[in-house]
Amino acid sequence: MNPTSADAVLGPVMCVVGARPNFMKMAPILRALASHVPPLPALLVHTGQHYDADMSGRLFSDLGLPRPDINLEVGSGSHAAQTAEVMRRFEPTLDAHRPSCVVVVGDVNSTMACTLVAVKKGVPVAHVEAGLRSYDRHMPEEINRVVTDQLADRLYTTERSAEANLQREGIPADRVHFCGNVMIDSLLTNREHARGAADTLRANGADPALLDHPHGYGVVTLHRPSNVDDAATLASLLGVLGEVATELPLVFALHPRTRANIERFGLTQKIDPARMLMLPPQGYLEMLGLMRDATLVLTDSGGLQEETTALGVPCLTLRQNTERPITIEQGTNTLVGSDRQAILQCVAAILNGQGKRGRTPELWDGKTAERIAHDLWQWLYASPAAARRS
Ligand code: UD1
Repeated sequence: MNPTSADAVLGPVMCVVGARPNFMKMAPILRALASHVPPLPALLVHTGQHYDADMSGRLFSDLGLPRPDINLEVGSGSHAAQTAEVMRRFEPTLDAHRPSCVVVVGDVNSTMACTLVAVKKGVPVAHVEAGLRSYDRHMPEEINRVVTDQLADRLYTTERSAEANLQREGIPADRVHFCGNVMIDSLLTNREHARGAADTLRANGADPALLDHPHGYGVVTLHRPSNVDDAATLASLLGVLGEVATELPLVFALHPRTRANIERFGLTQKIDPARMLMLPPQGYLEMLGLMRDATLVLTDSGGLQEETTALGVPCLTLRQNTERPITIEQGTNTLVGSDRQAILQCVAAILNGQGKRGRTPELWDGKTAERIAHDLWQWLYASPAAARRS
């Protein structure tokens, strides 16, 4: 058993992406599969959960992702409709390509939908970023994580707490591999190419003078349904951000869901454009540059909590919980929920030079995708019977 090309024996590795946070995780994995000796042939499937140029196409080019081999063009819908549509369209794709395994990343609806289809067809599934738990089942992502991890055959974790979570759920330890954080692979690869904040403002028709403040500037992202789908909650958060903006100008990269809700709830007047700049969703290199040079980041994103830890930039997370506790214990993250007092106090501390600087967590070293490719190779070839379900 010494094949020079992996698909001489087994089919290709089918790599699935659906939504924006998947793209930065899959880019280094595809590169590592290609540069593995011998190479592991891969097929890239985009479910089309995110489809806007801002949310999808632009990130593909920023990250050097190849054009998807297959685009399922599923688009938006309720959770049930979107999940069902991904499943319906993914099934014939699996039948047609007969992959050796399916690799899914993160916790979006596409992650869970493709896992369900693959395991029922006897195709093994590897889940990258397994075992994270917020223990908040109001989050759709938490449901996706729990289901995906129960079903996956190989589980790659980013931090040690994930192993304990999986153990608690009865998942056998020999399926679980702590190998680090692929998102940080992308960050380290692209850090040098990040676009300067002033350039990004100019490219968006905004005056970069906004950034010339003695305290610098802050970056904001908000998109969780719990923060943006309820008018009173969103109004209150925008009110607090308005208060922060009197001390520190804010650059807000607006998710389409948030933009639509600000308009729908009539909250546009809550935003003082001289202090709080609203931008459309930004490319990967633009976001990286904005975060790298920021005084602080205010967010409800999972990815930004990790990226700010890797960049050493203080992060205030506008949520009650996080599935990424290492960013609090070792990194730069602090949970502030939507509590006005907590937010203002933490911002004041950071502006006084008391922000968390943190340290880089174990194995967030830029080599995670290589470790995954190597493990996949061993798993699929050293014990093909274990990997093959049918
Ligand atoms: C999804 C993920 C979330 C992730 C987020 C990153 C799930 C359950 N949620 O949430 O974990 O953090 O992506 O952005 O999978 N829309 C557009 N253009 C697009 C995509 C979406 O306008 O390209 C709008 C649509 O109105 C859509 C809404 O955004 O209904 C929400 O999109 P959806 O894919 O359902 O979930 P996200 O909120 O983006």
